[in-house]
Amino acid sequence: MKNIRKILALVLALGMILVLAACKSGTDTAAPEEAAADSNTLIMATSADFPPYEFMENNDFAGVDIEIAKAIANKIGMTLDIQNVNFDAIIAGVATGKYQMGMSGITATDERRESVDFSDSYTTAVQAIVVKSDSGLTSLDDIMAIENYKIGVQLSTTGDIYVTDDCGVEHVTEYKTGADAIQALATDKVNAVVIDNEPAKNFVAANEGLTILASPYVQEEYAIALNKDNTELNNKINTALQELIADGTVQSILDKYITA
Ligand code: ARG
Repeated sequence: MKNIRKILALVLALGMILVLAACKSGTDTAAPEEAAADSNTLIMATSADFPPYEFMENNDFAGVDIEIAKAIANKIGMTLDIQNVNFDAIIAGVATGKYQMGMSGITATDERRESVDFSDSYTTAVQAIVVKSDSGLTSLDDIMAIENYKIGVQLSTTGDIYVTDDCGVEHVTEYKTGADAIQALATDKVNAVVIDNEPAKNFVAANEGLTILASPYVQEEYAIALNKDNTELNNKINTALQELIADGTVQSILDKYITA
């Protein structure tokens, strides 16, 4: 009899342990959802390979976009969470809601507008053509006159899209980063690189023997990529950006990183 009681108690105890374990695992699986739903975190994707707009400095994010993003988050009372990803993952990640915004020297284009919304533009940029100083090349026509010429670009950038359209895919070599494309130019794997002008200036300054052609390629506008479904948050972000433009904050950030 005593034994039966003991066994019963044991079974009961075991049952309780199982129930508790089930409850615990229940809360465990719920935890990530809670984190994602944390309405006070603003998740921004960037590709920190693009000085002066975004780059790493002593293990920290720095640059124009980083400072504007911090100012926006501050204004709307959210905590900024910056995720460093490949440039070609930003628009897709914003479109699916993985990131709430993308700031990465992103050019607002009609094609991208099909999958994301854009804030107002916060600055203009221009696509530059970089060549070797001793190449004698002075224009895109000069480059296109070379047999089997190759132009290096960063994958999925507007530079990639324009050069593919204008020259044909067989003349384009895509690299993961702009720095990789510049490295390919320095080692004669490509005849030129098309990249945004300010990063071009940074890369040319850091690598001897390269120069930017005087005639710029394409003019464009940078804007923040936003998820199409987050109307309320997007409005807050855009209003904050407009205020930061109006009060001169954006200009002072640009002036800090870009010298004329
Ligand atoms: N403005 C160009 C584009 O939108 C290039 C941007 C590249 N940005 C970067 N962080 N690597 O396609």
